[in-house]
Amino acid sequence: MKDNIALIGFMGSGKTTIGKLLSKSLDMKFIDTDRLISSIEKKSVNEIFAQKGQEYFRELERKVILQESSGNNVVISTGGGSILDNTNVKNLKRTCFVVYLNCDVDCLYERLKNSTTRPILNESPDRYKTIEELLNKRKFLYHISADCVINIDKNTHPMDTVEKIKEHYISS
Ligand code: S3P
Repeated sequence: MKDNIALIGFMGSGKTTIGKLLSKSLDMKFIDTDRLISSIEKKSVNEIFAQKGQEYFRELERKVILQESSGNNVVISTGGGSILDNTNVKNLKRTCFVVYLNCDVDCLYERLKNSTTRPILNESPDRYKTIEELLNKRKFLYHISADCVINIDKNTHPMDTVEKIKEHYISS
């Protein structure tokens, strides 16, 4: 069994909510990479993207993932784009049991349609289409990066997801 658990998945798949509940339930530390980046920069993710650009954000994301994944007894909720970077995937797989929260487009859209905190979606004239296209591009990466896939739809209760992850983790 690995020391840590990492949650990966698209924006809106519930990584932060599930990560908090899971860490409590397993008595592990909780880290959310977006929040950590925001607190290091003293800026929101929106502001970092607008003022310093996506590449700058991705560099910080890489550093934070490397740093946090080298600890132990931690649940790490990652940003939805973290798996685009091969170094992140390698570091997460080496140190964490990696869980993909697999949510379908309709469910993601419902959760993201009014969000103002995702710079990648803020400018989109057709948010449903943007989510669908990005998910199609990333799906393969989420799957190959994961040790276990948990399917989620609009009726899934967060605690059921937590219990499923725990079962997979404990028997890993
Ligand atoms: C991003 C997802 C966001 C955040 C940034 C970029 C992405 O995290 O890291 O806005 O590229 O999918 P969440 O998945 O926590 O929303």
